[in-house]
Amino acid sequence: MRYIGNKTRLLPFLMGTVERLALSPKTAHDAFSGTAAVGRALKEAGWRVASSDLMTYSYVFQRAYVVAQRSPSFAAVRAGDPELRRALRSPSFRKAIAGKGALGAMSEYLARWVDAERGFIGAHFAPAGGRMYFTQENADRIDAIRRRLYDWWSSGLIQDDAYYVLLAALIEGADRVANTAGVYAAYIKRWQSNARRALTLKPEMPQRGARGSTAHRADATIVAAGAGEVELLYVDPPYNARQYSGYYHVPEVIARGWFDTIPVLRGKTGLVAGEGQQSDWCSARKAGEALASLLAASSARHALVSYNSEGLLSEHDLRDVLAGAAKFGTVRRFSRGYRRYRSDSDRVGRVYQGDRVRELLYHVRLR
Ligand SMILES: C[S@@+](CC[C@H](N)C(=O)[O-])C[C@H]1O[C@@H](n2cnc3c(N)ncnc32)[C@H](O)[C@@H]1O
Repeated sequence: MRYIGNKTRLLPFLMGTVERLALSPKTAHDAFSGTAAVGRALKEAGWRVASSDLMTYSYVFQRAYVVAQRSPSFAAVRAGDPELRRALRSPSFRKAIAGKGALGAMSEYLARWVDAERGFIGAHFAPAGGRMYFTQENADRIDAIRRRLYDWWSSGLIQDDAYYVLLAALIEGADRVANTAGVYAAYIKRWQSNARRALTLKPEMPQRGARGSTAHRADATIVAAGAGEVELLYVDPPYNARQYSGYYHVPEVIARGWFDTIPVLRGKTGLVAGEGQQSDWCSARKAGEALASLLAASSARHALVSYNSEGLLSEHDLRDVLAGAAKFGTVRRFSRGYRRYRSDSDRVGRVYQGDRVRELLYHVRLR
């Protein structure tokens, strides 16, 4: 998903640093999980991962990409949903899913065979609600898929892994057809070509990893305090005043579903009234203290911290906090430089010098 601070492109550098430090896979806490890209890479490298983030969509990604272990079963829903059973008897549907496997067949069914229906997204984030985040057709389709997933899950026709894998695919699919410049703080007033495309679902098959990985929709410090023995704490916090809750409120609404209560929206962009967690990490006054508290709460032996040189904390203050928490007072800085992408909007953790970009990562030994 397009996400400010998404570390996907940084993974070789990050995982290379973990290797350089000769850390062997035990338990890692990916404290600001976002897209779960880092937790997922750690899982692939054999780590057991505890991951956390304040946002519900991140919790969905953590469940789908870090916690889920097996290819999910759809036997119960195939037997228990009369509409799906009807589709399964239709030759054209059977032809469409031929060779696709169970997960591929379910996403084909949800994306193309479930009738679109007007729901919360269609009523508020599409032209019927006076907003242009999605075309009406895509918005109504997102609503229909979201509703169907919830119905299946709440009636026990699919289990958690299947639910989160498909919900993650829906959030990522919706992001591909969102009429935005990458964040949801505004929609674009003309339809872009990506928004005109039909919604697709591309679920990812869960990969096996160490047992016992966990996902948390919770504050990083609270999770750190309860995470037990941890070898590596990875810290990738927001670095400026922009709250993720305001930039990604639409994926958040899709993740939450809101089937029990109907939220009230406010403003041009449709922020959910009374929602919008305010993270201390987005405040110049509180960020240093927040980092010190996180490092103190964690039982990790090592911490790796990604931070932007233009962030709320100056390099000097950041080093001060890190040195204060370090067992021997030492802070190591790893960096990697490469040519800057022209259309690069992901600036977290980067120092720009002309055409060169520098990725920074700090290491401290905590215990
Ligand atoms: C720079 S992004 C992390 C990106 C992530 N590493 C990735 O690759 O996608 C920062 C994340 O911190 C989360 N966040 C903000 N305050 C938090 C807090 N107090 N506890 C946990 N997560 C928080 C935001 O929701 C956001 O997803």
